[in-house]
Amino acid sequence: MAVLPIVKFGNDVLRRPTEPISELDDALQKLIDDMVETMYAAPGVGLAANQVGVSRRLMMIDLSVGKRPGELYVCLNPEIVETEGELTEEEGCLSIPDFTEVVVRPQRARLRYMDRHGKVQEMWGDGLMARAMCHETDHLNGTLYVDRLRGLRRDRILKKISKLAKSGMWY
Ligand code: NI
Repeated sequence: MAVLPIVKFGNDVLRRPTEPISELDDALQKLIDDMVETMYAAPGVGLAANQVGVSRRLMMIDLSVGKRPGELYVCLNPEIVETEGELTEEEGCLSIPDFTEVVVRPQRARLRYMDRHGKVQEMWGDGLMARAMCHETDHLNGTLYVDRLRGLRRDRILKKISKLAKSGMWY
């Protein structure tokens, strides 16, 4: 397994909708293992394939960051199929390091996906789990959490990032 470099905000691959996965081959299984290692090393609770430069519809979530067995969800071709309520909480992203912002997300979300063995699964997530499901599925559609901010808060974070980029401290 290998820790892969994580691409940052500003890279086009984060903005392109990813390609659905149709074949579960060895290369895909290796990519999954490498992404799990990358997510744990970061450390992060979620990672989408385009964050490691691979434009395919694959993401993973582990709220325990590898601490508790059975909490790793590897999701192929995930779709949010139902949501309930709203929750406003702080959120960050491995592709926008050192920043967090308050983002409105569903309180509960239902995710449909295929697991790494090709079995279709559906699950409800609450709170942080729902947030991670929506955040990672957004990534696969080319959307970042900053796109969900409004007005001054959005302007402020984009301005800070472009300042870092100009001083050569971002890429
Ligand atoms: Ni992210």
